[in-house]
Amino acid sequence: MSDINSSRLTDPAIQSCDNQEKSLRPENLSQFIGQTKNTENLKVFIESAKIRKQTLDHVLLAGPPGLGKTTLAFIIANEMGVNIKATSAPIIDKAGDLASILTGLEENDVLFIDEIHRLSPAIEEILYPAMEDRHIDILIGQGVGTKTIKINLSPFTLIGATTRTGLLTSALRDRFGIPCKLNYYEPHELELIVERSAEILGYNIEHKAALEIARRSRRTPRIVNRLLRRVADFAVVKGKDCIDNEITIHALTQLEVDELGLDDMDRRILRTIIENYDGGPVGIKTIVISIGEELDTIEDYYEPFLVQSGLLKRTPRGRVVTKKAYKHLGLDEYMKESVNNLLDKDSTLF
Ligand SMILES: Nc1ncnc2c1ncn2[C@@H]1O[C@H](COP(=O)(O)OP(=O)(O)OP(=O)(O)O)[C@@H](O)[C@H]1O
Ligand SMILES: [Mg+2]
Repeated sequence: MSDINSSRLTDPAIQSCDNQEKSLRPENLSQFIGQTKNTENLKVFIESAKIRKQTLDHVLLAGPPGLGKTTLAFIIANEMGVNIKATSAPIIDKAGDLASILTGLEENDVLFIDEIHRLSPAIEEILYPAMEDRHIDILIGQGVGTKTIKINLSPFTLIGATTRTGLLTSALRDRFGIPCKLNYYEPHELELIVERSAEILGYNIEHKAALEIARRSRRTPRIVNRLLRRVADFAVVKGKDCIDNEITIHALTQLEVDELGLDDMDRRILRTIIENYDGGPVGIKTIVISIGEELDTIEDYYEPFLVQSGLLKRTPRGRVVTKKAYKHLGLDEYMKESVNNLLDKDSTLF
């Protein structure tokens, strides 16, 4: 198996270290493709805040990696015509860090906190009055001489981003006036993103080729852009002045990204459940041990897409592989046995 394998190419959590990802980032709502309900509503809330000459309410952006949370945060600030200060929860480890960020904000600024579910409870406590009443309470001194000082803050908008809404405390979640859940993209939306990105990067691409890349990108813009760049490499080396369908299929096959956009790790998860556990039900922890991958990686990145694609089901007794997965992997042989086993165990699973 090649080193530059599909599991890295299609891992939405891996962000490009070059400036290309930045150059492909839409800068305003009209360039942002898809997520129509969310963007239509955001347009109204932004417009209203501008008419009222008030700060936009706090926004929570939730959804799997690579769907455009950071992009949207920057777009919101841009559309509001305000400055944005960006930070990430894991680097705010002292109360003083957050206090100095908050006191440094100017009127109507956006404060973007990425991975907000990773804030420690003590830091979260500071955010509550900051979000609600625009002040923070700072403790000074020690023991009996401890005093609390209240510091007023400028009006600001907090934009939090999270891949795991379930890990957010309800106290924090409820303080966001604008919750915004991003969903996986439709192929025709991803196709538009491929075409837009190809134009920015200066590539000609056939309509059919763009659709093929879109179909195999785990319904995620970050992956669509990454696959486009890798397919373009194949076209360049072959001396093609247009990315056509033939080179696209060849490149995607070489990269081991299959027709459903599954990579090596997805296939390993499904195969393990089929071959070692009769197709399930099997607990997630058992799968993690068999595969040798981190629990968070499986739960955050792989499982949601496999469930979305109808290849895996979550049941109260564990994960179960669906008929579609057996067919896709060409393991129909196993299916007869396992489905019979399963039907004996629980007839409601399929
Ligand atoms: N709706 C969109 N239209 C066009 N391009 C998009 C869109 N959403 C995302 N992108 C592209 O995908 C890339 C990844 O998006 P972004 O970094 O905003 O994802 P994210 O949700 O913040 O991911 P993570 O959870 O890993 O932080 C962006 O650089 C941008 O080029
Ligand atoms: Mg991000």
